[in-house]
Amino acid sequence: TPLWLIVPAAGQGRRMAADRPKQYLQLAGRPVLAQTLARLHATFPTARLLLCLDPRDAWFDPAWVPFADWRRVDGGVERAASVALALTAIAEEAADEDLVLVHDVVRPCVHGDDLTRLHAALVDEPMGALLAVPVADTMKRADAAGRVATTEPRDGLWHALTPQGFRYALLRRALDEAGRSSVAITDEASAVEALGLSPRLVAGRRDNLKITHPEDLGLAEQIHAAQIL
Ligand code: C5P
Repeated sequence: TPLWLIVPAAGQGRRMAADRPKQYLQLAGRPVLAQTLARLHATFPTARLLLCLDPRDAWFDPAWVPFADWRRVDGGVERAASVALALTAIAEEAADEDLVLVHDVVRPCVHGDDLTRLHAALVDEPMGALLAVPVADTMKRADAAGRVATTEPRDGLWHALTPQGFRYALLRRALDEAGRSSVAITDEASAVEALGLSPRLVAGRRDNLKITHPEDLGLAEQIHAAQIL
């Protein structure tokens, strides 16, 4: 089955408070974006890459892309819009049954073992699948004053990570529908769930960190140094 990779990288990373979008900060000697693409390429060297970038992006360098078959796609206002634009860009080429993996550019610690297991799970999984980890901490819901309102039972709760993978036609339909509703979608799976389907949770590694806050970069450096690939 042909494999497409969509890497949304059109975010501004405002929570990072850095001089540049977080995907361009240095991690173990290379920009985060280059590290993330290298991880994907090591497992899926012949996949076709769609890289969503802000049209005004002044930092990107195509030398960081290791894929032979790749193209740049303009990002949208939100993450889901960026992914939807990438799907639209390949509408003439992609077959309904093609596999599409979506992976955040800000997850540069994703391990090849997880990529391989997710891909294997997708082969006979029509509703799609995502990397995820069970919640380990006790979960509190806050009230408006910053006090604990309730403790949420953590049984059965998972953190949704990326990549998340789906058949092309299903993901396109899900994001089209999501675009018509006013509910904010922060991952692909929730758009698919809104169609009444249940993507499979594939237990992944806890060190598949999403770089969001300033201290995350140092953590990602340590993870990279400790990982055996
Ligand atoms: O907003 P957040 O930090 O959760 O972004 C997750 C991913 O989505 C990042 O890789 C970011 O670059 C990407 N993104 C995008 N287009 C947007 C907003 C975010 O591709 N409009």
